[in-house]
Amino acid sequence: MAHPYVLLSAAVSLDGFLDDTGPARLLLSGPEDFDRVDEVRATSDAILVGAGTLRTDNPRLLVNSPERRAARVAAGLPEYPLKVTVSASGDLDPDAQFWHTGGAKTLYTTDKEAERLRGLLPADVDVVALGPDVEWRAVLDHLGNVKGVRRLMVEGGGRVHTQLLRQGLADELQLAVAPLLVGQAEAPRMFGPGAYPPGRMRLLETRTVGDVVLLRYVPTAPGTGSLASAADRRWLETACELAAQCPPSRTAFSVGAVIVAADGTELARGHSREGGDPVVHAEEAALAKLDPADPRLPGATVYSSLEPCARRSSRPAPCARLILEAGVRRVVTAWREPDTFVQSADGSALLTAAGADVVILPEYEERAKAPNAHLLPPSTRP
Ligand SMILES: NC(=O)c1ccc[n+]([C@@H]2O[C@H](COP(=O)([O-])OP(=O)(O)OC[C@H]3O[C@@H](n4cnc5c(N)ncnc54)[C@H](OP(=O)(O)O)[C@@H]3O)[C@@H](O)[C@H]2O)c1
Repeated sequence: MAHPYVLLSAAVSLDGFLDDTGPARLLLSGPEDFDRVDEVRATSDAILVGAGTLRTDNPRLLVNSPERRAARVAAGLPEYPLKVTVSASGDLDPDAQFWHTGGAKTLYTTDKEAERLRGLLPADVDVVALGPDVEWRAVLDHLGNVKGVRRLMVEGGGRVHTQLLRQGLADELQLAVAPLLVGQAEAPRMFGPGAYPPGRMRLLETRTVGDVVLLRYVPTAPGTGSLASAADRRWLETACELAAQCPPSRTAFSVGAVIVAADGTELARGHSREGGDPVVHAEEAALAKLDPADPRLPGATVYSSLEPCARRSSRPAPCARLILEAGVRRVVTAWREPDTFVQSADGSALLTAAGADVVILPEYEERAKAPNAHLLPPSTRP
């Protein structure tokens, strides 16, 4: 179930507001930043806003530049990205500009509201019922697997941004910080109060755009339990990149591993045959760099491009056992171990039997296999 890459985009005042309390929409960005946003829209497969923003701003959410639209068409894409909204109440104006401009539109709503809304909204709107409630994971599953959306731009408002960030579903934040203050306690904020994934995000970029500053951040905190977060995907990608750095071997897999604390701090990384040791495994190499008494280990997640081994001939302790002994109780991996060197290796079962959560993200399997193609039968090569 591949989720799209979720980009939260907004302009905010210096005091963190998305708008003021007045009836007209507060323009926070300048012309240069509106043009930047147009470019980001043009490179997205879909643009999503909450029903609150539809009611307050009546936006059109178009790619305004004819050149960017022409480039999309030349690349075989629809002229406009898919427009998406979510509503539980069904309080939607059928005359809103959102429905009557641009290309395809999709509404995610509840079973209760769907039928009435199909009768109310223009016939070309795809009204998708997602059950008694609209869960964000279900929205992203549907966008990824049914609508083919790979890159989703979320343009607000505050309640939508808040939920996606809290639930660990945002891959990236793009904030355009505008040089003005709102100063009204009741005005909508980009992120409401409440619990968020812990720790510091990673800064990707700062850029001056006219008189606003664009900040790009990526969340780093691992997910919890068996649910994958956007940050889990990013860390697993890093593990797959490490696998590609291993000295090649005809007798062992190339694997990368990263150990990340609950607050998103990278604790250690490793890869197969690191440091000239011909038999060291990736998880083993990473764990060896840590003090076994490190209090962050019980809350940490191990990312490994290949599932930790359950049995090995080179050393007595398999990696699944080393992980458990280190106190780690969460593992994210891309690829179940094939029978190439060990029959029916099942490190995931060993880990789960001991109470650990194992999250498998098969969308990264091809990347995990890539440096190991020479070890695999032709039919299973990436
Ligand atoms: N500065 C910027 O870049 C920017 C961008 C966008 C918006 N804004 C501002 O943000 C404000 C609007 O923000 P907002 O927080 O009021 O509204 P919002 O986040 O746009 O929309 C919230 C609404 O979306 C629906 N929704 C959200 N999560 C849902 C879920 N899980 N299931 C079902 N429905 C869900 C609900 O609609 P129902 O109530 O219909 O159930 C909810 O009331 C406006 O003032 C706007 O100007 C600013």
